Amino acid sequence: MKPLPNWDGLTFSLTETDWIYVARGDQRKSPVWDAGEWLPFGDVGCTPASPALSYGLGIFEGLKAHRTKDDRILLFRADRNAERFRNSAERITLAPFPVERFIEASVELVRRNARFVPPYGKGSFYLRPVEWASEARLGLGTVQGFTVAFYGSPVGPYFSAGSAPGLRLLVKEQGRVAPGGTGYAKAAGNYAGGILIADKAKKLGFTDVLYLDARHVKYVTETSGSNVFLVRRDGTLVTPPLDDQILPGVTRESTIHVAKHLGVNVEERALSIDEVIADGVGLFCTGTAYTLARVHEITYRDRPYVFPDDSVRSRLFDVVRGIQKGESPDPWGWTIEVPRA
Ligand code: COI
Repeated sequence: MKPLPNWDGLTFSLTETDWIYVARGDQRKSPVWDAGEWLPFGDVGCTPASPALSYGLGIFEGLKAHRTKDDRILLFRADRNAERFRNSAERITLAPFPVERFIEASVELVRRNARFVPPYGKGSFYLRPVEWASEARLGLGTVQGFTVAFYGSPVGPYFSAGSAPGLRLLVKEQGRVAPGGTGYAKAAGNYAGGILIADKAKKLGFTDVLYLDARHVKYVTETSGSNVFLVRRDGTLVTPPLDDQILPGVTRESTIHVAKHLGVNVEERALSIDEVIADGVGLFCTGTAYTLARVHEITYRDRPYVFPDDSVRSRLFDVVRGIQKGESPDPWGWTIEVPRA
């Protein structure tokens, strides 16, 4: 039994929990995936010749469960993460893990680690499914053997309280990912190169960076780990369309859905940095980890621009968070109630 964290001091960091799930896949077998096993949190073993280590053949997911006021636990949109996990696998030649198995393992992970789901209002339980090519191989090429592991951790806010009243983003005149590359997949390699870039920006006092597109270096795309939305002066919500450089965020999709339901005009289209500066009154990020995070300021070509209006983000956040925490009705069936252990 692992120790519980201090519920009043949760940040977005790892607390080891009691159970993890590990399944092994082999494309030469039928079925491809074994039944998997539940193990105490610990190392799972990896050959140094794994192409995940040399060539980045690894993917991951992030999804959350929340405790409700009446002490139930709700898992949010696991089906959408399951589908993205499969799509990400296909993009980088890993064996797709079945959607039903993903949902089952997610529910069971939360059920077994239920004592690590923070009390109502104290944070959430973040699930991190990962898959990697675990067969030894020296040269570049496809492999047949894979491992999937699911672990989770209680978490608090991704950004510290010091980021109030909102994030400060440094606009980088470069792409986050390559054109025609893996940007629409949740591939580990998409994140590796950005860590140094964000780290340098943080040392200058920024919370994160905002990337432009890699083809024209003109349109905004994503931060290090989230999608972005602009609230225009005329009240329209604009977010970049899904393409090779945009991750199909589950929070992005949920935000668009809720906004349309509330009668907000939503446009999924190319959004230039010039438009952000000229017509933007509000700006925010969306992601499982970032939630719907207000951006207070961006710096572009050494000039700061402030986004004073947080009203649209805050209205959308209340609805999404309300569904996640069981405080609002769930008209679209987005949550699964996790059975008691
Ligand atoms: C998430 O939002 O779950 C992510 O995977 C982003 C990551 C940078 C924490």
